[in-house]
Parts: sequence; structure tokens; C-alpha cells
Amino acid sequence: MDKYVIEGGRPLYGEVEIQSAKNAVLPLLAASVLTDEQVVIRRCPRIADVLNMVQILGELGCKTRFEGDALVIDPAAAANHEIPPALARELRSSVFLLGSVVARFGRARIAYPGGCDIGLRPVDLHLRGLRRLGVDVREEGGSIVCACEGARGAEIVLDCPSVGATENILLAAVTAKGSTIIRNAAREPEIVDLQNFLNRMGGKIAGAGTSVIAVEGVRRLHGTEYTPLPDRIEAGTFLIAAAMCGGKLALRNVKSENLASLVHKLREISCKIHAKDDKIYIECGARRTPKLIETSPYPGIPTDLQAPMTALACICEGSTVIVENLFETRFKHVPELIRMGADITVRGRSAFVRGVPALHGADVCASDLRGGAALTLAAVSAEGCSTVVDLGFIDRGYSDFEGKLRAAGARIRRVRV
Ligand code: UD1
Repeated sequence: MDKYVIEGGRPLYGEVEIQSAKNAVLPLLAASVLTDEQVVIRRCPRIADVLNMVQILGELGCKTRFEGDALVIDPAAAANHEIPPALARELRSSVFLLGSVVARFGRARIAYPGGCDIGLRPVDLHLRGLRRLGVDVREEGGSIVCACEGARGAEIVLDCPSVGATENILLAAVTAKGSTIIRNAAREPEIVDLQNFLNRMGGKIAGAGTSVIAVEGVRRLHGTEYTPLPDRIEAGTFLIAAAMCGGKLALRNVKSENLASLVHKLREISCKIHAKDDKIYIECGARRTPKLIETSPYPGIPTDLQAPMTALACICEGSTVIVENLFETRFKHVPELIRMGADITVRGRSAFVRGVPALHGADVCASDLRGGAALTLAAVSAEGCSTVVDLGFIDRGYSDFEGKLRAAGARIRRVRV
């Protein structure tokens, strides 16, 4: 196990290259088994979640290889419909494979998926959606078993706009017979990316990015090459890093319109931000209070940036209320921030943060992906020395997090424990 050793308190300067979006790449990888032709994902980040998904594709019989930063997938020989339980537990996104594997092979088996422990995270909406498409879904000893003679299009109304359920249903519906309508669909940009990818493979999908998505089933899909959209959560993390540390950062490979709610909040606390082409620039000095930060589905403040925003609120003037509307137990970073001198009280899904002039160094422990990133930013901005352990969580979603921070002037080292 590795840890970060961080000497905090230096401003950040320079340019950071943003990776392709983890949450776009994972469903694209699941979609690749829908064809027997070659699929190439350009600019594919080598983060742990992606590497786990690649391993699962290998277990299904796909041949995969990296050529530079492009991932080449040859699904021609895929024949296995069972996702190994150990891998499924590593990665929540393995559940997307239900939709695509059952569409290709007529059956699928997967252990209940894992992922970061940030709340209950049920998959009932995924399973209900698949059932509406004519898939027989059973639960057998901790596994989900699906069988289907041939999926049929249907109208599906989601109880809440779940990102994963919307994606899973799209993957099963794209080759179903007839038309499917998904109402109350999630509107995240990563769903638009999945629609674009499937349409490049020959799918007929329209409406992604709105709450109604229409799918006209096609008989077969073909191979394609695709560059996924930039990672708005990684970009948001670095914008918050600049807001916490001060200095001036430029981020490259950014779609700034996907970051509007965060940019609005950061401007409120007095950061100067502007965007041009695929770059976004931030400059930050003193920080006013953001007052209220409330997570909500896109285009609201993403729950995945709640932990970094909480770290930022710790060193803003005045008090901030943070409300987490998506997940039940997504405040595990708070006790660790308190060890660094933060003044925070948590009640249910709300955190009350009273700003302090600066955090101080401490030995802290990551317990989920975004919480781990938040603690790293807190340590990079804090006075004195910190260590952050359990980097496996951070590696799930950020490629070379420490290298990018170091190149911007942070004193951060990764060392073997
Ligand atoms: C995805 C993202 C994750 C992000 C989240 C919310 C990926 C790989 N992960 O996760 O980074 O934090 O969206 O933006 O894209 N729910 C149910 N039943 C279900 C499914 C979800 O009740 O069957 C609830 C969840 O408990 C949660 C809410 O719906 O309260 C939103 O979850 P969802 O959008 O499904 O998140 P994920 O797809 O797991």
C-alpha cells in the first residue's frame, strides 16, 4: 500500500491535462461487447476502475490491448456470460454489463456489484428496467441472473434519474426489437457520450441529455473508434485545488459547459475563472463563504465534488451548509478533515462548516475515491506536513494525481508503506 507525503501551503501554477471521463469510459467498455467487431477507445485513462473493467472484458473472452493511450478491444471471441464475483465486487460499474451481456448472449450472471461505500446504492431500478424489456431477472445466492430470448422495446419510467440505470437500460434497449422510451432519465453528459458512442456503432438513440430518451432498436451494431468526453469531476477537483491553494491554473481538455454549476459557486467565493476553446483558467486569492452547497443530479453541483467542496469550505470565510442529496453516508472525509483543524458538524445528510483561516498537517486516511481526493487537496493547501493513506481509492478515478499536483508546484510524494 502506498501513501502520500505532503508538505502543504504552496500555491499552484501551470497547466494540467485532464483525462477522459471515468464515468463515460466505463459504460463505453460495457457497450463494446454489443458488437463482434473491433472497438477503439482513444485517450483511455489507465485508472484502476478502467483496468478492472478491462480485466472483466478479458474474462468474457474479449481480447484487449493498449496501443499508446488507445485501448483496442476485439470482442469477436467473447463467449462467456458470467462476470467473476471478485471483479464485480471491485467495481460498481460492472453492473452495466448486465444490459450488454444479456443483449449479446441472451444470458448474464453477476455478483452484486461493489464500489465506493457511500450509501445503500441499490440496483432495483436497473433490474426493473431490464424486466420491462422482457429480461427474466432472478436473484440466486448473492448473484443476479438474467435470461432473455430477445428483448422487446418498452416505455420505462424511472422513479429517480439514476445514471447507472439509464445507461444499463440503453445498453439492453439498443438492440431490442421495437422502440423504447426512458422517462425521468438521468441527464448527465456521460449519458450523451454513451448515446453518441452507440449511434456511432449503428444505434438509433435520441434525446440523451434531456429527461426523455427514445431508442429505436437495431438488429446489430458494428465496431467504431471513439474519444470519450473530458472528465468534469477531475477538472472540478483541480479547480477546487486552485481555489484552496491560491495561484493560477490552466486546465487543458475541458468542456467548460459541463462545469457550469461548480464555476458559478467558485465565482461566488471570488475565484476568477474564464474558459476558451478546450481550456479553463482559474485564479484565486481570498475566499468568501459559499454559504450553501447542495448536491443534485446534473446540471446541479455533482455529488462527486461534494467532498472536495467540503474541504474548500473549511478554509473559506464564514459558515457554509453542505447538503448531500444523492448518497446517505458520503461524509466519511469529515472526521479526517477535523483532524486537520476543520470545524464541521454533521447531522444526517447535512454538514455545517465554520471556516478557519487554514488547516494544519495531519495523518489521514482515504475511505472512498472522492473523499480521498478531498483529503489530498486539504493536505496540499494545509500548513505543515501530512500523510494520506489508502491511495487505492484515489487510484480508482485519477491517473497520476500526485504527478499532476507536483507539476503544478505542490510538494507531494508517493511512497511505499
Ligand atoms: C453514477 C456515477 C457516480 C455518481 C453518481 C451520481 C458512474 C460510474 N458513477 O453512479 O460517480 O456519484 O452517478 O451522479 O457513472 N438509486 C436507486 N436505485 C437504483 C439506482 C440508483 O435507488 O437502482 C439511487 C441511488 O441510491 C442514489 C441515486 O439513485 O441515491 C443516484 O444514483 P445513480 O445515479 O444510480 O448513481 P450511480 O449510477 O451508481
